Amino acid sequence: MPIPLQSLNTLGLAAWTDELVRVTGSTQLPAISQAITNKDRFILGGGSNLVLQSSQDAPLALVCVQSSLKGIVRLPAREGLSRLRCASGENWHDFVMWTLAHGLGGLENLALIPGTVGAAPIQNIGAYGVEVGERIEAVHAWDFERHDHVVFPTESCQFGYRHSLFKEINFQGPWNRPRFFITAVDFALAPATKTQPILSYKGITERLAELGVTQPPLPMQVAHAVISLRKEKLPDPNEVGNVGSFFKNPVVSEEFAKALASQNPGLPVFHQNNQTKLSAGWLIESAGMKGVQRGEAAVSADHALVLTNLGAATARDVLGLAHEIQEAVMARFGLWLEPEPQIIPPI
Ligand code: EPU
Repeated sequence: MPIPLQSLNTLGLAAWTDELVRVTGSTQLPAISQAITNKDRFILGGGSNLVLQSSQDAPLALVCVQSSLKGIVRLPAREGLSRLRCASGENWHDFVMWTLAHGLGGLENLALIPGTVGAAPIQNIGAYGVEVGERIEAVHAWDFERHDHVVFPTESCQFGYRHSLFKEINFQGPWNRPRFFITAVDFALAPATKTQPILSYKGITERLAELGVTQPPLPMQVAHAVISLRKEKLPDPNEVGNVGSFFKNPVVSEEFAKALASQNPGLPVFHQNNQTKLSAGWLIESAGMKGVQRGEAAVSADHALVLTNLGAATARDVLGLAHEIQEAVMARFGLWLEPEPQIIPPI
């Protein structure tokens, strides 16, 4: 019997797979690893960065492996930082709120991002001037190739904009044989009272003032500002199916950005971690695609980087619309936008 995945992906696409394995304890991994070693598979987190292409008649011929590993434990403090190990199946936003409630700062700019803790390092989730890799000490994973546990200190995780070693290695070989299954992530966080707030991102300072917060804000107050900004701009996946940003902001050379900005006044250009990025949302809106609807898929009228499922969208609707956006932005600006979610099977 094909297993339905509609409630397990935030875009809400009707999809089915052959087999679903939920990992509830690390001790199960050796047996699971042996059992699926010759089977095609994919690893599912919170399903918030996923476009699944399948039908009930043609389910994904894959074993879907999902972490239901739970728990947050404290590790010995080091150099004034609290250290935590969080299991991969914990909800990301709940974990952020847990750290804040326990007087720790550092993750407040990443509040309300959908998904799991285990998925966070894979694409190095980032928002409002912070990327999760900056707070990670180590990533624990199961290696389906060597059938063993492995620990990656942060220096070897190759964190970059929406990028990590895990993303790279899991897709280096055949897409349907991902190698690493993340079991837990270690974080190093400062006490809230010693956390330097990161307020550089446009809008945060203004929102804090609107919320009546006096400077300097505490991490919990920054989180509330971020939550309020996200709620205003991004549709709630519990109400409208979506995967957040559907495209990455294009990373370009400084010269290219300057040339494009001089021809297109108002084009937002961001500089972060020695990279120059353009605003994909602005490019899509300027290419006339904001609010466009195709079948049951639409470009959000609030944020052009978000594609939404109006109710009964198929992967074909969503991917067709995404392709039309890519063509429109290419025709207008000479740039090909790269999708951010994982598309299974890839196109
Ligand atoms: N903009 C438009 N039209 C739009 C949307 C945006 O012109 O329809 C322009 C505006 O000038 C706006 C600027 O784009 O000021 C930036 O928009 P926003 O602050 O929403 O940020 P973003 O670059 O579009 C990125 C991340 C988001 C993250 C925000 C805040 C990517 C692909 N997306 O979006 O991450 O929340 O910054 O840091 O990097 C996600 O990955 O799913 C996600 C939501």
